[in-house]
Amino acid sequence: MPRLIIASKNAHKVDEIKAALKKSGISLEVLSLSDLPEVPDVVEDGQTFLENATKKAEEIAKVYPEDLVLADDSGLTIPSLNGEPGVFSARYAGDHDDVANNRKVLTKLSGKTDIDREAFFTTVMVVVGPKRANLEAAGRVDGFITEDWDGQETFGYDPIFYYAPAEKTFAEMTMAEKNDVSHRGRALHELMLKLPAWLAE
Ligand code: IMP
Repeated sequence: MPRLIIASKNAHKVDEIKAALKKSGISLEVLSLSDLPEVPDVVEDGQTFLENATKKAEEIAKVYPEDLVLADDSGLTIPSLNGEPGVFSARYAGDHDDVANNRKVLTKLSGKTDIDREAFFTTVMVVVGPKRANLEAAGRVDGFITEDWDGQETFGYDPIFYYAPAEKTFAEMTMAEKNDVSHRGRALHELMLKLPAWLAE
């Protein structure tokens, strides 16, 4: 059975991908970076989510050339802030400091209304495999940045991202509700549709 290396140590992400593969009837032996003896340190210095995901997948594939490697990159884009935080989402104010990152967004949007508060999350997924062109999938979800938040930490920008169809922020939705509509869920869905034909190439 071909091996699929997921370029992440996040057990939740790995479980979500395993569940999607199972649901789609795709048989692969799934590994994460936690299962590998050697993992290259990849610097995410691309200008786009696609560049970062591609770099991550290709650098790992250099060490494991016989395997399939899946990498993703996500972030929040706010058009009125010239696309910020974008590829800097994880380290906008402080490295993986969600509270500081959220405060920075709210401060920059202070006094702004309506259209200036529009925002979207994006996920790009890239699969690299031997003797094939890279497979790419993307997902996006649109929302608005709230005017304030109660300071409670959940994950990333979830507490300040208002998803209008649910009339709630992402932080107020259950994991299952969010996965159904999220950028990551949508990218994964597209990937599952494309993967069988790509594997058969
Ligand atoms: P990653 O590429 O999935 O590690 O995401 C990079 C950064 O984007 C995260 O550290 C978060 O700050 C932000 N981000 C990505 N996806 C989400 C999400 O679903 N909710 C909130 N923040 C997110």
